Amino acid sequence: MQNTMDLLEMVLEIERFSPHHNMLSATRLLQIGNYLELEEGQSVMDCGCGRGEALCLWAKYFGTQGIGVDVHAPSLSDAAALAQRENLSDKVQFVHANMQEYETNGTGFDVVACLGATFIFGGFEPAIRGMRDMIVPGGQIVIGEAIYTADNVPAELRDYEGDCPTEMKLFNAARATGCEVGYYSRASRDEWERYIFNRYRIRKEFLSMPYGPERDKASPRRWQDMYLRYRQNWQSMAFMVIHPA
Ligand SMILES: C[S@@+](CC[C@H](N)C(=O)[O-])C[C@H]1O[C@@H](n2cnc3c(N)ncnc32)[C@H](O)[C@@H]1O
Repeated sequence: MQNTMDLLEMVLEIERFSPHHNMLSATRLLQIGNYLELEEGQSVMDCGCGRGEALCLWAKYFGTQGIGVDVHAPSLSDAAALAQRENLSDKVQFVHANMQEYETNGTGFDVVACLGATFIFGGFEPAIRGMRDMIVPGGQIVIGEAIYTADNVPAELRDYEGDCPTEMKLFNAARATGCEVGYYSRASRDEWERYIFNRYRIRKEFLSMPYGPERDKASPRRWQDMYLRYRQNWQSMAFMVIHPA
């Protein structure tokens, strides 16, 4: 019986800590944390932290100290609530700021992460350069980046999603900055489908959106259909740990 409860708690823990705004699971975050060899007291900055799941999870299981910056106040309220519920308020801090204007206190971080938000820096390659300036010597960079899995994707998908690099372009861009890619993985089908189909609870966000092209794009049926027709075959999310030389 005890084992059953442990298993249930494990599943619920994965649900609690899986980011809502990304095809990224708590399991993946733990795997990356393990790869990074995160240790008690190490500092982590999360650029565009959303609802703070990554920082809270790493703080809880590895004992890291985190700062998350995001422009979206409701996500930050959720992040603070998660930290409070998990008794992590002394380990994570969430800052409402535009990352482009945010200034660190000058001390580098052991790890700087940007999961699904490199547009903040102007794209993948500028993000690596910007994040490299924020780490200590020997520090590590974590990026989650949407990719196309082929060069020629259907026009409907490109209209919907805009431009995305292929994974080879990502590797070449990382190497062009003088860095090496360590950990690498594409999102699993499970991560994809959790992201696409487990969004009913944020349906109220859609209903509160003003009418217009953004709302049309966010329509739940369009969202599902774009995945079923195109995204599952032509798109993914690349997770990378990048090591400056
Ligand atoms: C796709 S979400 C990813 C959120 C989070 N990293 C995750 O994995 O769930 C992108 C995030 O970037 C934030 N963002 C957008 N522009 C920003 C900026 N200039 N400065 C800080 N955050 C920004 C958004 O509010 C949003 O939370």
